[in-house]
Amino acid sequence: MKIEKDVSLQSMNSFGLSAKANRLVAIRSVEEVKELITIGLSAPFMILGGGSNCLFIDETYPGLVLKNEIHGIERVDEKKEAVILKIGAGENWHDVVCWCVEHGYGGIENLSLIPGTMGAAPIQNIGAYGVEIKDVFHQLEAIDLQTGEVRIFDKEACQFGYRNSIFKHELKGRFLITQVYLRLSKDKHQLNTRYGAITSFLDKKGVTKPTISDISEAVIAIRQSKLPDPSTIGNAGSFFKNPEISPAQFESLQAKFPNVVHYSGTNGSVKVPAGWLIEQCGWKGKRVGNVGCYAQQALVIVNYGGATGEEIKAHALRVAESVRDKFEIPLTPEVNFI
Ligand code: FAD
Ligand code: EPU
Repeated sequence: MKIEKDVSLQSMNSFGLSAKANRLVAIRSVEEVKELITIGLSAPFMILGGGSNCLFIDETYPGLVLKNEIHGIERVDEKKEAVILKIGAGENWHDVVCWCVEHGYGGIENLSLIPGTMGAAPIQNIGAYGVEIKDVFHQLEAIDLQTGEVRIFDKEACQFGYRNSIFKHELKGRFLITQVYLRLSKDKHQLNTRYGAITSFLDKKGVTKPTISDISEAVIAIRQSKLPDPSTIGNAGSFFKNPEISPAQFESLQAKFPNVVHYSGTNGSVKVPAGWLIEQCGWKGKRVGNVGCYAQQALVIVNYGGATGEEIKAHALRVAESVRDKFEIPLTPEVNFI
């Protein structure tokens, strides 16, 4: 285990910010984390996966970055109809999806092409096209960075919600996730084609009996048509969560804005797409200096090159302020501010 000093994080964050880490250590096993704790792991420190949901505000992160590099995929239980996989937290998420699709394991094909690592996926309960990781989640192993104790969290213990889990609240920064176990189907896959864009893609291709591979292909095509590729334009996907408001609040919003787009949210709430709210405020495709709201998807804040974390933060605050002024709806960032 080697602790490096003054390490550039530019290739380790999807905004492409030229941030640096005061110190960085690659973590390849639980034993290495235990060793770090024995040496003395003093704040500030942070865990980094693929850096696709992090905004480094300052040019230098003043502490130690624990870069997750725990790899491996193992079948730990296999029956005729389902398999349980144990996956190292440092595995690339999209590679895991492709591996599962190739092996005929169903359940995560709608989550194709989401950037980042296996270990970060439960942190915000990644979701797309009608599926969330909680739907296939079995359990995870994580190490308590205060005590070195390894703990197992089942689905209930993770307290998953919309872009949410216990690891974003009570246990924020406390546990390093080392392994995630997923339960996937081997036959009679429950395909999720609820999203109109998926069915129209399949219709256009003349696919009448879609396989998990067809769904994955559809999702990849849809995502590529509207989301910027971070290797070309820096971004972290949706910058804000979609706000969930009460039915009463929605009624008065709809009275003023009859064409407001909406879906059903959690616990009887109404979900309003933040991208719609931001577009209505005139931000879609608008550039301010090196940053802006993407022309194909207003919810994605992009770095056109050379932006600083402060510039991105200032842009996000301006956008959120105008949405609050026009619609009286506060936006909550999905991106983690570091
Ligand atoms: P990082 O950015 O490295 O970390 C995110 C947070 O998790 C940080 O707080 C970090 O400290 C913590 N963390 C990371 N690894 C661990 C670990 N092993 N143990 C404990 N804590 C950890 N998200 C969606 O849900 N749906 C989408 O459709 C989607 N689309 C995206 C599209 C694009 C183009 C981009 C750039 C992002 C998108 N995202 C989406 C957001 C992002 O891909 C996910 O949040 C992803 O899970 C982040 O993974 P990461 O490894 O890059 O996490
Ligand atoms: N819309 C606009 N203008 C825009 C963007 C969107 O009016 O510029 C409206 C449209 O009516 C559109 C609706 O918003 O139909 C929803 O847009 P989209 O289907 O693109 O999805 P989203 O709600 O913006 C969410 C997730 C994405 C996920 C997609 C697909 C959040 C915060 N975002 O986006 O996740 O991939 O659905 O399921 O929930 C991410 O979390 O980083 C992310 C990309």
